[in-house]
Amino acid sequence: MKDKLIIFDTTLRDGEQSPGASMTRDEKVRIAKALERLQVDVIEAGFPAASEGDFEAVQAVANSIEKSTVCGLARALDNDIDRAGEALKGAQHRRIHTFIATSPIHMQQKLKMSPEQVIEYAVKAVKRARQYTDDVEFSPEDAGRSEEDFLCRILEAVIDAGATTLNIPDTVGYSVPHEFGATIAHLIERIPNSDKAIFSVHCHNDLGLAVANSLSAVINGARQVECTINGLGERAGNAALEEVVMAIKTRHDVFPCQTGLDTREIVTCSKLVSSITGFPVQPNKAIVGANAFAHESGIHQDGVLKSRETYEIMKAEDVGWAANRMVLGKHSGRNAFKSRMNELGFQFSSEAELNDAFVRFKQLADKKHEIFDEDLQALISEVSTNDDENVKLVALKVCSETGEIPCATVTIRIGQDEKTGSATGGGAVDASLKAIEALVNTGATLELYSVNNITTGTDAQGEVTVRLDKAGRIVNGLGADTDIVIASAKAYINAVNKLQSQDVRQHPQSGDV
Ligand code: KIV
Ligand code: ZN
Repeated sequence: MKDKLIIFDTTLRDGEQSPGASMTRDEKVRIAKALERLQVDVIEAGFPAASEGDFEAVQAVANSIEKSTVCGLARALDNDIDRAGEALKGAQHRRIHTFIATSPIHMQQKLKMSPEQVIEYAVKAVKRARQYTDDVEFSPEDAGRSEEDFLCRILEAVIDAGATTLNIPDTVGYSVPHEFGATIAHLIERIPNSDKAIFSVHCHNDLGLAVANSLSAVINGARQVECTINGLGERAGNAALEEVVMAIKTRHDVFPCQTGLDTREIVTCSKLVSSITGFPVQPNKAIVGANAFAHESGIHQDGVLKSRETYEIMKAEDVGWAANRMVLGKHSGRNAFKSRMNELGFQFSSEAELNDAFVRFKQLADKKHEIFDEDLQALISEVSTNDDENVKLVALKVCSETGEIPCATVTIRIGQDEKTGSATGGGAVDASLKAIEALVNTGATLELYSVNNITTGTDAQGEVTVRLDKAGRIVNGLGADTDIVIASAKAYINAVNKLQSQDVRQHPQSGDV
């Protein structure tokens, strides 16, 4: 019997710390439900002390998840721990994850604390967290650059204080696999009470080694891996869940453990996270990239036709690629539509909301005969953001002709007022976005513009991501439509609405503690 490897997903917390990847409460709940279908063991839902919005999002996830443990992050501060405890009250299974930095550079420069003070804070935080739950995780932040002797001291102390999981983060992605694996083995061997806790790892990908470091740690005794869907996360991201899980499954001959995940849900989760955050997945990305299972060269195709194993080490359907099937069409009725939306984790809050969404579905089905789950996910994003948006697209007209300067006329509604404006540009998209900007006047810089087709075919919906930066505040706007000029306008307006929202949040790793 193999050991269980606990999969701790932090897409909703560390993933959300990527600039522009912030998610609304409802978006977090949708992703959490998809993660639960994937059967991840622990879902880190956010940092409740960051803002009122973050608190409510963690609370909403805690109240809607049944099987997975829901976790909240807290610095080693009383208020953070109390906020996490409060937010998690409704969870069937709850965990508080508290942390404090332990590397010399972080203790001296960021915390301005002595090592003794850091141990004192850590122990106090773990004891306080235990008042809310028996499931307490402690992380020595920047462990990858911390002294091993000090790690042994602080980890022994927090186990005595009641920590049940010890998470070793390579916060800045500095470690290399043999070294990181050795650190895990040494800690387990040297800490006298190490058998009373599960060792976990949390690796960042600054050197492209997050997955390799995590797997090396597993070989050396770690029994929890923290990771994110699509490797989303701060800077170069975190270890990609899909890569860790499929490496463990595919190379069961070298790993002494197994996960309990339903890997057929991986692609659905990947597409959902990409569409909600606006972070596209590169085509050659392992497991979830569009080319990951495509065998295009003649030699490879010939090999695969003779025997799949010639070039395939995994089956596409085992990670959910085959699930890209038509689910609904032009003739599908309201009930079929409603029940598929429910299966995707979306509950309509009223008859009026269902009616509105059904009208949009019918409009889409008129333009595009086959409606896939991905189309419905995009529709959910639209339905769920539309009500809250102050700025709305009313009409858009573009002129694009060879030899002529493209121009666009846009009408938008801001609150109760309608405004119309025109602009020219290098192309129809450029002209449309310039016309919108002239009406809303955000003064923001366009940092990124990207288009992805949601499904295949020329009638597929294009999903556009627009990233705006206003004085360091970065937001991603998303829009989907079978017409990419309209999708672009929707995405720009979505970003403008996000810029106007007031939820000011604190970053967990930038404060005093
Ligand atoms: O990277 C890191 O150190 C973290 C901690 C909060 C665990 O995300
Ligand atoms: Zn991290």
